[in-house]
Amino acid sequence: MSKKLSIAYVCKNCGLRALKWAGRCANCSEWNSFEEEEVLGRKVAIREDIENSPKRVGEVEVSSYERKVTGISEFDRVLGGGIVIGSLTLVGGEPGIGKSTLLTEVLAKLSERYNDESILYISGEESIHQIAQRSNRLGLKGSKYFIYNETNWQKILGQIKKLKPSVIVLDSIQTTVSSDVPSSPGSVSQIREVTYELMNHVKGSSTTCFVVGHITKEGTIAGPKILEHMVDCVIYFEGDQLGNYRILRSIKNRFGNTNEVGIFEMKEDGLKEVKNPSQYFLESDCSETFGRSLSCINEGTRPLFIEVQALVVENKYGNGRRTTQGIDVNRLAMIVAIIEKYLGIPMGYNDIYLNIVGGFKVKTQDTDLSIIASLLSSYRNKKIEEGVIFLGEVGLNGEVRSVSHIEKRIKEMEQLNYKKVITSKKISLEYQRRTKLQLIGLKRINELEKIVSL
Ligand code: TYD
Ligand code: MG
Repeated sequence: MSKKLSIAYVCKNCGLRALKWAGRCANCSEWNSFEEEEVLGRKVAIREDIENSPKRVGEVEVSSYERKVTGISEFDRVLGGGIVIGSLTLVGGEPGIGKSTLLTEVLAKLSERYNDESILYISGEESIHQIAQRSNRLGLKGSKYFIYNETNWQKILGQIKKLKPSVIVLDSIQTTVSSDVPSSPGSVSQIREVTYELMNHVKGSSTTCFVVGHITKEGTIAGPKILEHMVDCVIYFEGDQLGNYRILRSIKNRFGNTNEVGIFEMKEDGLKEVKNPSQYFLESDCSETFGRSLSCINEGTRPLFIEVQALVVENKYGNGRRTTQGIDVNRLAMIVAIIEKYLGIPMGYNDIYLNIVGGFKVKTQDTDLSIIASLLSSYRNKKIEEGVIFLGEVGLNGEVRSVSHIEKRIKEMEQLNYKKVITSKKISLEYQRRTKLQLIGLKRINELEKIVSL
């Protein structure tokens, strides 16, 4: 049936096809992303069994999605309140981050809660003994779901048709190989073919499916765009390999909000939900130290308190060294330039170390004010008053800018008994009457030193 025609080149990043290899993709500008692929002389099958014609939008009956909850509330929350029955979700993350662990727990919870014995965990990476061992280690010994070690897609599909599982985990897409496609495992055409066939099956049979996708060193799932377009939901599991925390983040969700995050901790006996996530990254008591300040950011829609630590020391021998953890080193360079220019402090010659406590990576600029406060506190050996939160971005002209979506953060700060927030003038004027917190507004960064006496 299938006849080899020729060779094409496919961009691993965006899926662009070309007849000639190129060093850089003309579509997405990615370097070195073309991969050889053999083109088959066969047509894409048309599903004749389903009658399909255009309908008027108003005449289509809308029903809310039927969901299953796992009881792992951080997980359910990220998916928008449980798993939508019949959906296809891609779970991405670096190797070793905990994808298999999370999905093992999810399946065990589902089979227990719904008394469902037709759940299937397919692994091309681990033997059934390894999977069973992990399940035991997680304390899920009595679980009744099926485990199946196989990499060949045709065999897998055969078993799926036989068992008719309600939920499937395919771990991972990169190890599953279709014998209809001549290219190697993990190639763009393999991934596309298997996902496409799986998707057809899922949609036709209301099977709920999770596909695990490993992220490459560059931080993308191999063949990422192709996969992301095809599936209903994309969730990424990320974290600090050295630290214990893990963040589950929704990147795409056809059935809910994409701004949700779930926070977990990797323990000896599996992933545990973090109970007080907003305070998870705070040290218990360091009130007597210099160079420490607190900020509150939004991670997804969830407020998180962040502790910024700075160490500014004299460097007698030349250019100051900049070392950061959890924050972009270029952002620090910019902030130091702002301090030099608008506060007149010659910090450029100092060695500066900046750290976000707990291994957390800050991607927002809402912590600028907090970073400046920490740097000044360390530089002057003066400690910052307890219970103060710094919240604001600082622009290149030394102006203090407002941060958005602040209501939830204000509520959380009130609940946790913080007293004082140093922020932009605009926010303080807008919110002072609505909160019992003391909001101190700054227009420009040079007003900071007067207020916190640094
Ligand atoms: P795993 O789920 O296999 O990662 P992935 O599927 O994303 O590659 O988890 C791997 C790591 O998690 C492994 O290095 C060991 C650690 N781990 C624990 O610390 N506690 C546990 O209970 C389990 C099952 C794993
Ligand atoms: Mg795994």
